[in-house]
Amino acid sequence: MLSVLLYLLRSEFDNRLLATEAARRETEQALLSAQAARHEAEEANMAKTRFLSTMSHELRTPLGAIIGYVGILQSNMIKDKTEALPLSKTQKEYLVSIRSNADHLLGLINGVLDLAKISSGRMLPILTTINPTDPTFIVGTINDLKSLAITKGIELELQFDPKTPSEVRCDPMQLKQVVKNLVANSIKFTREGRVAVHVEPVENKHAWKITVSDTGVGIKHEALEHIFEPFYQADNSDSRNYEGTGLGLAITKSFVEAHKGTIQVHSTLGKGTRFDIQLPCA
Ligand SMILES: Nc1ncnc2c1ncn2[C@@H]1O[C@H](COP(=O)(O)OP(=O)(O)OP(=O)(O)O)[C@@H](O)[C@H]1O
Ligand SMILES: [Mg+2]
Repeated sequence: MLSVLLYLLRSEFDNRLLATEAARRETEQALLSAQAARHEAEEANMAKTRFLSTMSHELRTPLGAIIGYVGILQSNMIKDKTEALPLSKTQKEYLVSIRSNADHLLGLINGVLDLAKISSGRMLPILTTINPTDPTFIVGTINDLKSLAITKGIELELQFDPKTPSEVRCDPMQLKQVVKNLVANSIKFTREGRVAVHVEPVENKHAWKITVSDTGVGIKHEALEHIFEPFYQADNSDSRNYEGTGLGLAITKSFVEAHKGTIQVHSTLGKGTRFDIQLPCA
């Protein structure tokens, strides 16, 4: 009786051992497949980046020539002055249209290239220590956008809290791009009123904050969760009245997150929008 019991126990034990071994092999196989799939995805991602970099270079070169020649025609700086006939009103209008379409295309190519570089990890921030109030950074970017605001009759103000940290670690190029994208959006989507940029410390967090707010058209509630997706434009019918490709916020978010920061949006349709960016000081 005991030997039968022992025999049964033994065979049960053997069965379980076999099952465990089979499960181990299955797990190993799944791990290998997952590694192969990851490797394949990485390869595909790199191939995509290489393709996009080459394509954008190939597209940018002729586009640069188009933009350059349009500029020459617009300024009437033709080499041989005998050929420099005055342009008619319609011809001038056509040149403006060629230029704005070429600029749009260039913005699209640059944006797609930036996103491809970001997703392949080739655009990691190069951190240096800067003073955020230094005229080269946020102040300079705001100054570059002043004429745009003035043309639309919108106030553009910048305020630094006196307690703003005087030393922060960040990539100055990416910081300027983030501020430029947000402020350019605010100016673009505001018909009247003001765009305000505030820089302040975040108490007890060794962090600092940039807030960009406007009195513009606002963003509808359902669109808020999508606006950081590439090519998303909140109101297609409305956005078509504005320049843009829907890449600015996707790039902005990637840059902020690469700095281990956060970006948040609050908006009321018809009243305005506010973007809060929080960045660590070090
Ligand atoms: N300040 C704002 N006020 C109202 N809507 C905004 C604002 N900022 C962004 N949006 C909405 O979010 C969408 C995405 O913004 P994003 O900057 O990514 O694209 P874009 O400005 O349309 O084009 P791009 O920045 O690539 O030139 C915009 O099309 C717009 O609908
Ligand atoms: Mg934009």
